Amino acid sequence: MKFFIDTANLDQIKEANDLGILDGVTTNPSLMAKEGIKGPEAVFNHYKTICEMVNGDISAEVISTEFDKIVEEGKKLAAIHKNIVVKVPMIKDGVKAIKWFTDNGIRTNCTLVFSAGQAILAAKAGAAYISPFIGRIDDSGWDGMELIVQLAHIFRVQGYKSEILAASIRSPNHIIKCAEAGADVVTSPLESILGLLKHPLTDIGLAKFLEDAKKFA
Ligand code: G3P
Repeated sequence: MKFFIDTANLDQIKEANDLGILDGVTTNPSLMAKEGIKGPEAVFNHYKTICEMVNGDISAEVISTEFDKIVEEGKKLAAIHKNIVVKVPMIKDGVKAIKWFTDNGIRTNCTLVFSAGQAILAAKAGAAYISPFIGRIDDSGWDGMELIVQLAHIFRVQGYKSEILAASIRSPNHIIKCAEAGADVVTSPLESILGLLKHPLTDIGLAKFLEDAKKFA
């Protein structure tokens, strides 16, 4: 399973990248706004900086919702760097645009996916990545992980080439469950990635080893 970080924060991207386990980055308009980035030029420069920092796929989201405009915007985003993956929302014009991008050699990440039906459409259109938002499903009283299990099954049976990119991660346990369910990629905030490191017995064990090491130092 590939690890992406779900942020536009450069310090957090650097920290995850320095750990040596980072395969890519996903952003969205909310994450970009959180960093105080304003205006198309600043947005483009920010994507460029991320692409220069991380050797992996970088999702850059369109903010248009009509086919022609999605295509126009996506072409500009894809021209920033070879590793840019154009993130397109799961709407009718979005599916149409994903097919257009597929036919024209531009890779896409279909975002805001909340059902198997939506994922099947995105796969048929040729999305490179499909992003089910498991945390937001959990937030609404359903079980996001059930969708990952279902998609892993459908994609295996049907031989779809799209990668299941589990998004809206809320905890280290989400990451573990995604690995168990067969997600191809998980995109997570830094906190949940670092949460995987933690175990109290590791801390207790290390403290004891270091204490004992003093006896023969
Ligand atoms: O990047 C899309 C997705 O991961 C959003 O997560 O936490 O806003 O539900 P969240």
